[in-house]
Amino acid sequence: MTTATLPPILQVGQFPGAMQAAIDARLTTHREPHAAIQGILTRSNTRIEPALIDALPALRVIATCGVGYDKIPLNLCRARTIAVSNTPGVLNDAVCELAVGLLLSLLRRLPAADRFVREGNWAHGAFPLTRSLAGKRVGIVGMGRIGVDLAHRLLPFRVSIAYTGPREKPQLPYRYCPQLLDLAHDSDVLVLTCPGGPETDHLVNAEVLAALGPTGLLINMSRGSVVHESDLIDALERQTIAGAALDVVTDEPHVPPRLRALPNVVLTPHVGSATEETRVAMTRLAIDNLESFFTHQSLLTPVVAIDT
Ligand code: DGY
Repeated sequence: MTTATLPPILQVGQFPGAMQAAIDARLTTHREPHAAIQGILTRSNTRIEPALIDALPALRVIATCGVGYDKIPLNLCRARTIAVSNTPGVLNDAVCELAVGLLLSLLRRLPAADRFVREGNWAHGAFPLTRSLAGKRVGIVGMGRIGVDLAHRLLPFRVSIAYTGPREKPQLPYRYCPQLLDLAHDSDVLVLTCPGGPETDHLVNAEVLAALGPTGLLINMSRGSVVHESDLIDALERQTIAGAALDVVTDEPHVPPRLRALPNVVLTPHVGSATEETRVAMTRLAIDNLESFFTHQSLLTPVVAIDT
């Protein structure tokens, strides 16, 4: 079966320019639900409501463009025998590049330094000293594909790496810390690369932030739900941690005014994977999954695999 002959696919969510072009090059998607729909093509920023699934009796597969699948009701999919795929791997480069960029932006205060020059302040005195990355202890929360790639990229900056996660990965040359609190205590920078969802909800709370301490930095590349946002804002306001760089927040795209007002925060609008090359690769992989499912009854990158 080629993409031209796939059963009816419903496209859910807005796909920016290059992504839509990549879809239109291979698929004619439906924009309105109807009973004959057998597949959904969506994005990881778009919630798939259970009511939509209930309204699609013939639905067999959901392919999301993104590594995260916290907005898809997986239990309902399992119960209905609906297969689900994501797009791991193809976005690692972009997400890691942004994580490194945010980390350097925070330490070297790049947004403030840029404003300092533009606003004509340089002529009146030097920009305050900032902090180096070299020599810092980086704690990675979630040593999956992205965590591993990030560690690899950070090592040349002469940092030490430790990590936490559900289980130790003995093949990795980094120190495993079973407890997040211990990792936070032993880190200068905590980087979140774990999945979102119920298992990681509010993992980073006041206690973890206190362990990170007044010189500590938090980088969130994961999901807003992983951080207890008001605990974080309190810690930043009271400077019980030094700063945070956040690509994600709890209620996207709404960012609490208290967070936006803080000088010790760098904010980006959930753009970890948002390069043209990456988003096109993600879209193609999602379509490849649909094609593989309907042709070979198997997904290339399954989240929920269905035995047929
Ligand atoms: C993902 O793939 O889940 C990212 O967060 C989307 O940019």
